[in-house]
Amino acid sequence: MPGLSTITASLLRTKPVEQLASEGEHTALRRSMGLIPLIALSVGATLGTGIFVVLGEAAPLAGPAVVVSFVVAALAALFSALSYAELASAVPVSGSAYSYTYATLGEIVAWVCGWCLLLEYGVSVAAVAVGWGAYLNEFLGSTIGWRIPDALASAPSDGGIVNLPAAVVVLIATGVLLQGVRESARVTTVTTMIKIAVLVFFVVVAVTAFNSSNLHPFAPAGISGISAAASMVFFSFIGFDAASTAGEEAKNPQRDLPRAIIISLGIVTLAYVLVALTAVGAVGVDNVSSSGASLSTVLEQVTGRGWPATILAAGAVVAIASVVLTVLYGQTRILVAMSRDGLMPKVLSRVGSKRVPTTNILIVGGAVAVLSALIPLGELVNATNIGTLVSFGLVNIGVLVLRRTKPDLPRSFRTLVPLVPVLGVGMCVWLLVHLPGVTWLAFTLWSAVGLVVYFGYGRRRSALSRAAGARAEVDS
Ligand code: ALA
Repeated sequence: MPGLSTITASLLRTKPVEQLASEGEHTALRRSMGLIPLIALSVGATLGTGIFVVLGEAAPLAGPAVVVSFVVAALAALFSALSYAELASAVPVSGSAYSYTYATLGEIVAWVCGWCLLLEYGVSVAAVAVGWGAYLNEFLGSTIGWRIPDALASAPSDGGIVNLPAAVVVLIATGVLLQGVRESARVTTVTTMIKIAVLVFFVVVAVTAFNSSNLHPFAPAGISGISAAASMVFFSFIGFDAASTAGEEAKNPQRDLPRAIIISLGIVTLAYVLVALTAVGAVGVDNVSSSGASLSTVLEQVTGRGWPATILAAGAVVAIASVVLTVLYGQTRILVAMSRDGLMPKVLSRVGSKRVPTTNILIVGGAVAVLSALIPLGELVNATNIGTLVSFGLVNIGVLVLRRTKPDLPRSFRTLVPLVPVLGVGMCVWLLVHLPGVTWLAFTLWSAVGLVVYFGYGRRRSALSRAAGARAEVDS
C-alpha cells in the first residue's frame, strides 16, 4: 500500500515548465499570428451573447447600475488577465489555464481546472448558441415576417419543447471543425470588425434617445443587486483568455500574448460600458428586454421596427456564430491537451484523416448541441461563470506559486505580486459568493463527478504517473 505522503506527492506532481515549453517549441502548428490577429482572436471569442443577450437578464437585478456591474466584472477579469499574461509569457503553450496549473499547482489541481474549463468553454458554447437563436428569430421576423415557433425555439423550462436553432448552430460549427477548416486569422479579424461596427452602430443610434431620467433610481437593489448582476455579466468577459489557447501559433508569444490579453480586455470593457449605458439611458431598465434579442428590442423602441433593428440582428447573428465556432474549437483543443497527458481517454486526441481530432469534435459537438437544445440561457450562463471563476482563481494562485518555485524563469511580462493575484482571487471569490444556490449545487455535483473520473481513470493513466513508474522500475 502506498503511504499517505506518496499519494499526496503523486496528486501534486507538476509537469515541468521546461517540458511544457519544449512541447510548445516543437509544435506541429504554424507560428503565424502577430499581435493584431491575437487581439482579434480574443475580442472575437469574447464579444457575443454576453452583451447582446445577457445584458437584458442582468439589468433587472441591478437597475441602471448594471453599468457598474460591468466595471466590477471587468476588474475581476483584469486582475486575472494580468495573471494569465504573466503565465502566458512564461509558459507559452496551448492549453491555457489547464497547462499553467499543471506546471504550477500539480496534477490534481490541473485536473480540477481542466474540469472547470469544460464549463468555461463547453457549457458557454451552449449558452452562446441559445443567444444566437434569439437573434436569428429576430432577424427572420424583421425580414420575412416569420419566426420559428416558440415551441421549437426555447428550452422545456422556458415553455418550449426544444431549442432547435441553438442546436443547429452548434452542429454547423461542429461540421466546420470536422472539415479541418479552422477559422483563419483573417476571417476572425473580419468578423471581429463586424461585431465592433455593430456595437458602435448601436451606441450611435441609442444615444440619440438618451434621457438621464432613465438612470434614476440608479441602484434600486443596492450593492447586492450590483454584485449579483456582476456575477452574471462576468459571462460577457469570458474568452479574453482565448489568445492563451493559441500559445503555439503566435509568432512571438512571450511579447504578444500578454499585450493581446490586456488590450482585448480594454476594448471589450469600453464597448460593454458604452452599450449598457446607452441601452439603459435610451429606454430605461424595465424596457431592456430579457426576452432574448435585447439590443434589437432597444433599437425597435428607439427607431420603431425598421432597418436599424434588422441590421443589429444581422450583425449579432454573424457575431455570435463566430463565438460558437471559436469557443468550440478552444474546448476541443483543451481536451486534446488533457488526453495527451493521459488524464482523458486517448481517443480524444486521436487525429482523423483531415488532421483534426474527429471523435473529440463529434463528442463535444453532440453534447453541447443537446445542452443548448434543452437548458435555458440563465442556467447555462451561471454554470459557465462558476467554472470560469474557479479556474481564474487557480491561475492567480499559480502566479504566486511559480514566483516561489521558479523565481528565475524568464518572464517577459510580470504582474505586481502579491497584490494583483491576491486581488484577482478576492474578486473571483466575491463573484462566486453572489452566484445562486442552485448553481452551487450543480457545481458541487459536477466537481464530485470530476473527482470520481480522476481517481477512477486519470490518476493511474496519467503520462507523468507512468513516467514515474518506469523510472522507479529502472532504479530498482
Ligand atoms: N463572452 C462570450 C459571450 O459573451 C462567452 O458570448
